Amino acid sequence: MKVTAYALLGSVLLSSLATSALAQPQAGPSTTGVEFRNTITGEIMKTDEGKPGGRDSEGIKTFLQTGVNKYIDDKSCLRNGESLYLTSCSGCHGHLAEGKVGPGLNDNYWTYPSNTTDVGLFSTIWGGANGMMGPHNEDLNPEEALQVITWIRHLYTGPTQDAVWLTAEQKKNYEPYKEGQHFSKDEKGQCKPLEE
Ligand code: HEC
Repeated sequence: MKVTAYALLGSVLLSSLATSALAQPQAGPSTTGVEFRNTITGEIMKTDEGKPGGRDSEGIKTFLQTGVNKYIDDKSCLRNGESLYLTSCSGCHGHLAEGKVGPGLNDNYWTYPSNTTDVGLFSTIWGGANGMMGPHNEDLNPEEALQVITWIRHLYTGPTQDAVWLTAEQKKNYEPYKEGQHFSKDEKGQCKPLEE
């Protein structure tokens, strides 16, 4: 009886050791304040796994801790986000997120209403959804995913009152994307130009 109890204790200790070893990040913070859950299964996802890098800027640390997207109207981040979106997403969702093989992301209809928050949208990017919507945590690191989110929010053309991801203040100033608008390499802000 005693032996079993000790064996049990031992295995509990061992497994907690193993978990803490696994939880060691590749870079940046080891814990996130926000719980990211897979859009389909609801399983908790780790943001310290997947594509390396992009975990130590103030912007991404704030997002992983609090869910607040500090990039939302920063032109340097919009510039990066456009480029990343065009590489990873527009083939299926359309150049302006108007929808193609995948649904439109620029209107106020969401298959998964969780995508109306940036934490929810991050979760869909990180862990995927159904069918062709695979996980993107191998081609985008958290920082890049947040920049993509920022660009998608900028492409939104629906009623501003339905833009759940904006604060009341941001709603007042919201200006959606205008065709042909570009943000140059020289835009100063929180996001460094992407490496070429
Ligand atoms: C290979 C095609 C493909 C690519 C690439 C792709 N998606 Fe998708 N996406 C889809 C399909 C198909 C769906 C519908 C899946 C579903 O309903 O579960 C979808 C669904 C979504 C949804 C859910 C929309 C809603 O109405 O709730 C979001 C958000 C999304 N994709 C974002 C992205 C982003 C951001 C990228 C780039 C990082 C991306 N997708 C790349 C095909 C794709």
